[in-house]
Amino acid sequence: MILLADDEPAFQRLTGAWLRGLGHQVEVAGDGDAARAAFAAKPADLVLLDLAMPPHHDPEAGLALIPAFTPAPVVVMTGHADHALALKAIEAGAWDFLAKPVDPDLLRVVVARALERARLAREVATLKAQAGGDEDMGLVGTSPAMAALRALIRRVAPTRLPALVLGPSGTGKELVARAIHAASPRATRPLVPIHCGAVPAELLESELFGHLKGSFTGATTDRPGLIETANGGTLFLDEIGEMPAAMQVKLLRFLADGSYQPVGARAPRMADVRIVAATHRDLPAAVAEGSFREDLFYRLKGIVLRTPSLDERASDVPLLSSMFLRRTSEGRASFTPDALDWVAERRWPGNVRELRAAVECAAALAIPGAAGLMVGAADLAFAVGDLPSEPASSVFKTLDEEVAALERRRILEALGRTGHNHTHTARELGLSRVGLLKKMDRMGLR
Ligand SMILES: Nc1ncnc2c1ncn2[C@@H]1O[C@H](COP(=O)(O)OP(=O)(O)OP(=O)(O)O)[C@@H](O)[C@H]1O
Ligand SMILES: [Mg+2]
Repeated sequence: MILLADDEPAFQRLTGAWLRGLGHQVEVAGDGDAARAAFAAKPADLVLLDLAMPPHHDPEAGLALIPAFTPAPVVVMTGHADHALALKAIEAGAWDFLAKPVDPDLLRVVVARALERARLAREVATLKAQAGGDEDMGLVGTSPAMAALRALIRRVAPTRLPALVLGPSGTGKELVARAIHAASPRATRPLVPIHCGAVPAELLESELFGHLKGSFTGATTDRPGLIETANGGTLFLDEIGEMPAAMQVKLLRFLADGSYQPVGARAPRMADVRIVAATHRDLPAAVAEGSFREDLFYRLKGIVLRTPSLDERASDVPLLSSMFLRRTSEGRASFTPDALDWVAERRWPGNVRELRAAVECAAALAIPGAAGLMVGAADLAFAVGDLPSEPASSVFKTLDEEVAALERRRILEALGRTGHNHTHTARELGLSRVGLLKKMDRMGLR
């Protein structure tokens, strides 16, 4: 679709007819604001922009409009072969320019070329998204549960359907939302996240829909909402379960027909935004108890994607751990074999987020040894606080108990650093190997 922005009715009619005759769909706008609104409601593939339009007939104002049409190519039409202005327009991001009166044959060629470029840009974006393969997604894991999730992401991404990502805390819901956007034809447009629970209820409406100057105390200028920012792209509504009831109604309307009303605006506006929502809450239960609108729930759950808990994909734990260690140490640290056993055996109720924090913390605490930075089971156990460090009643500890606790901690730390090498640990602590093993037996560390 071509957006023709020009204020002269005769030019609109003739050029519009010529372009339609060539098989193009044409939408017409008579001034800058109308052009911007039309594009916001339905992004055109190409914009033909007259630089001198009402109300100011000022070419500079026309130039300032050009970025509003990204990523569509803009062909500017300048009054009387004004070359300096044409140059400025190209500098401002225009794709080409035409001098008025416009030569119809030149128009045909320029339009064809610009549309071809727009098509190529879309194709590159799609190919990029596909070629990224799996790495693309930032989602690590080879378990069947993850393979199924990836396959579903790939199927959902090209559609416009709203997607609802459900799953326990820390299982990668946000990564899934990003993966859907990245693999979609909208990948070159913005992905705009908002955490519905983190924005105070009374600000959420203006945050999402924007507001007009003077619509409430403190609204000193017009401000676009996140929906407008996300136009052509994806809006990620994180923690949708926390959305206040009053906003649920307004969101429902937007989902139903793409219209929304900025705070203080008289008329609704349109935006083309794909919605991906996520929550760790049990939404059907919230619906049943009446805290979440049923109609909104059904609108949102165009497609439901479930992120598996780490328990359901235990086979991914070593892979994830190694990846996090590599990332946090920039490839400088490695695990001792017992560390990988330890992570695989432990349960991770906080899921991937907890695992990641444990690995990063252990890597930060580990002390480099002769073999480089080795992260051992003891480092990890220490990092997650599985080791009884200081009992709460420490004030009442006897001297013997305190010495024993200190001894235990020194031994565990040294074991972690040496990767459970008993000889090195003993040497580091100034003990004989046999002496160390005896102590470890006594402490139940073997
Ligand atoms: N499959 C995965 N591969 C790599 N990293 C992951 C994966 N899943 C989760 N993570 C990492 O785990 C952490 C938590 O992920 P994320 O924030 O997406 O969780 P969430 O499901 O949105 O949790 P919450 O419900 O608490 O918001 C992030 O640091 C993320 O990068
Ligand atoms: Mg999250």
